Amino acid sequence: MNNRFHIATYGCQMNDYDSLIIESILLSEGYERASCIDDASVIIVNGCSVREHAEERAMGFINSVSVESKKKKKIILAGCLARSLKDIPEFIDAAVSPTEYKDLPEILKNNFNVLSLKSKGDYTDISINSGITLLTPISKGCDNFCSYCIVPYLRGREESFSSDSILKQIKRSKNLLTREILLMGQNVNSYLSKGRVFTDILSDVLNEFGDMRVRFITSHPKDFSIKIIEMMAENKNLCRHLHLPVQSGSDRILSLMHRKYTADDFREIVRLARKILPDITITTDIMTGMPEESEKDFEETLNIVNEIQFDDAFMYKYSGRRFTLSRYFESVSSEEGLSRLGRLIKVQQEIKKKKVLMLKGKTLEVLSERESKKSKSEFYGRDSGNRSVIIRGMNIQAGKLYNVKINEIAGLTPLGDIAEEK
Ligand code: SAH
Ligand code: SF4
Ligand code: F3S
Repeated sequence: MNNRFHIATYGCQMNDYDSLIIESILLSEGYERASCIDDASVIIVNGCSVREHAEERAMGFINSVSVESKKKKKIILAGCLARSLKDIPEFIDAAVSPTEYKDLPEILKNNFNVLSLKSKGDYTDISINSGITLLTPISKGCDNFCSYCIVPYLRGREESFSSDSILKQIKRSKNLLTREILLMGQNVNSYLSKGRVFTDILSDVLNEFGDMRVRFITSHPKDFSIKIIEMMAENKNLCRHLHLPVQSGSDRILSLMHRKYTADDFREIVRLARKILPDITITTDIMTGMPEESEKDFEETLNIVNEIQFDDAFMYKYSGRRFTLSRYFESVSSEEGLSRLGRLIKVQQEIKKKKVLMLKGKTLEVLSERESKKSKSEFYGRDSGNRSVIIRGMNIQAGKLYNVKINEIAGLTPLGDIAEEK
């Protein structure tokens, strides 16, 4: 048996980060990355549980591994899915949840699940392999217990890491490729450590790493502070993007969701943010078919979407999750939830299209990330507002900032030529 591993990752950027942590831990214990699944003796499936569909994707991957491989290789279930799955299939050698990755080498050696010994789920002492964007959690867990959401049950109580340990981890992990720091938390703007709040840690990172772009996800409307937008206006390295999940436009549903803001509170945040920074990009998450959602409630969601004109949105049909309170509310049929989702997507896509078309003729500052799949003279990148942009030109390099003049819109993607290298 070799000692090579392969990690398959599903879910949000927290799971992406965790996979980098797992990789670091295993590499430091003498394991090596496998070139492909067949070459690996250990397969780690880092799965998500936020919706049924997310679970199905990871389970689909596991099921696609041949019976023979399942016998020969160690198959480790990791991530939120490892904590949420009720019946772990017998061919899974161990299930390791997000706080237990430091125990993984022991688990692999002993071939069974040891009780969490070293792990507390704080990985700020481990350096990761940074790409152009360095994923940097500033907190873990979530205390909000939105009535539909499984995350607080899987990721535990919210805990913010100290500014000192965050800065140290960034210093250790950043390399010549790194151009952007993404500060992450389930509720990033409720950060609180030793009396320091989110805007303090933002200042610390911006001051310490003056040559980096800085972004953050995900902000909760109930913890919003206008100071964040003021900082964006003052510091060009702080990206002008706010991902602010609204979830619903109905106060009745927002209250049943335990979101702790009203639709008008949300409107006010957006009004203030755009007053200070008219060009800020505002994106959101929205759910349809939440239990108890009536046609009228859903129309209020359509209304707020039409009013606010989000630059982009992740839209989901409600999925009943274990542990959550919403399972005891009166359910909306899956067909109705799906039909509302379709109607919502149609409205939002039109808005997005209109917004993207308005970019034509403008110049955006774009960080190039990678060669586009289509052509060697096209690169994929993102602007300060987190908009995906295709950059065209000769000798484009990944990890560089370019001023890009948008002269074409392909579908919903702006395309442009380099006006200036920065
Ligand atoms: N912590 C972040 C992200 C949570 S998960 C936040 O609070 O914004 C990302 C999105 O998944 C949520 O914003 C929500 O829109 C969606 N989501 C969460 N639970 C869900 C469920 N049970 N069914 C459908 N969508 C869900
Ligand atoms: Fe889930 Fe709500 Fe926490 Fe987000 S804030 S992770 S939606 S409980
Ligand atoms: Fe992320 Fe999915 Fe867990 S969204 S926090 S990986 S349940």
